[in-house]
Amino acid sequence: MKVMVIGHGAREHVMCEAVTKSAELYTVMKSLNPGIVQLSKEYSLMNESEGKEIARWAKSKGIDLALIGPEGPEADGVGDELEAGGIKVASPTQEAAKIETSKEFMRELLDHHNINANPKFGVFESENEAKRFVKELNCRVAIKPIGLTGGKGVSVYPEHFDSVGGAMERVSEIINEKVGGYSKVLIEEKMEGEEFTLQAFCDGKSLLPTPPVQDHKRLLEGDCGVNTGGMGSYSQADGLLPFLNRAEREKSVEILQQVVDGLSKEGIRYKGAIYGQFMLTAEGPKVTEINARWGDPESMNVLPLLKSDFVELCFGIVEGRLSQKKAEFEPMATVCKYLVPQGYGIKPQANEEITVEEDKVKAEGARLYYAAVNRKNGKIFTTSSRSLAVLGLAKGIEEAEEIAERGSKWVKGKLFMRHDIGKRGLIEKRINHMLALRKK
Ligand code: GLY
Repeated sequence: MKVMVIGHGAREHVMCEAVTKSAELYTVMKSLNPGIVQLSKEYSLMNESEGKEIARWAKSKGIDLALIGPEGPEADGVGDELEAGGIKVASPTQEAAKIETSKEFMRELLDHHNINANPKFGVFESENEAKRFVKELNCRVAIKPIGLTGGKGVSVYPEHFDSVGGAMERVSEIINEKVGGYSKVLIEEKMEGEEFTLQAFCDGKSLLPTPPVQDHKRLLEGDCGVNTGGMGSYSQADGLLPFLNRAEREKSVEILQQVVDGLSKEGIRYKGAIYGQFMLTAEGPKVTEINARWGDPESMNVLPLLKSDFVELCFGIVEGRLSQKKAEFEPMATVCKYLVPQGYGIKPQANEEITVEEDKVKAEGARLYYAAVNRKNGKIFTTSSRSLAVLGLAKGIEEAEEIAERGSKWVKGKLFMRHDIGKRGLIEKRINHMLALRKK
């Protein structure tokens, strides 16, 4: 079986690892990811959004199934081009990917189908109307561009602004500079709680959920600094999280199922990985975002634990047969930590050489997934994005965290990481936060 994966990051590296357990791997990436190169039978360095060109290459290689890692190529219709060329694709079409690429569409879908997981929200083109809404909510809002910004365009009270004036500066920037690609802004009531991610395999009807994960968006320890694509994440061996109980997990799966059913009622078949970003509030889980792909870093918390055959599940997605399948996972905790270029999120130091002693990382029991690095003349260089992730797996979160830390010591260069992710102190803060909210 020949499976093609599109994308060049750590999410795609872990997807490729899962593919190679039972199929031959062909890859398309815009920069040379050393981990993906090692796993690939053949790879092609090309623009990941050039659907026609990718489809031509895939047909020439006799690809049986294609998987698209990042949202960009989905938004650009790469899946549609591949399908038009007769290639099976276990990732969303451009239309289905709207659930991620248009936050307005996502919020309205939840509203139209009475899915009780929306905060109060409004979409505004007029700065005056936006201002009225911000005032109505006493400034306790999250301000989001409508289109794709790689998770980095969101501003929230009080971390990013603490007055109507501050909020309005951000609103005008988004509307006038078309951040995300549109002269519109989404304003949502700020939800109080703890964020978590629930990902699932989806064939348009059935879902096979994966263990929930908590990512850490903020750049600096103690959840300070700018928002990033995600600095690291953890999961728990029992398929829950330290602050998330079974009923809440089930509720989040139910919400994802309602979203997929809602899409289906609108004539849109959603197939591929679906990613629910939830805020666990005192009233239960609410939707923060729905993404049309595996999470990054969250894919690294779940795919290495998958006992079932990944490629078979992906065929189950395409053929609409997930109800006949199971997704089973090793009962282990995971901690994933990203190493990023110094200055990441503000003024990243790109083109700096880094050294990675892969054997030593492995000897520590850790796994390594390359992200946005470039291999040139046998050397590895940083880019402006996250460089690589180190994953620890163990019975408990604490032990997994220690393994990830030990593994990361064998990566050297002008890099930075958050040491607090997966540590007891930060996890207790999460538990206490939820306890306090539930008591209110
Ligand atoms: N971890 C954030 C994302 O994948 O969008």
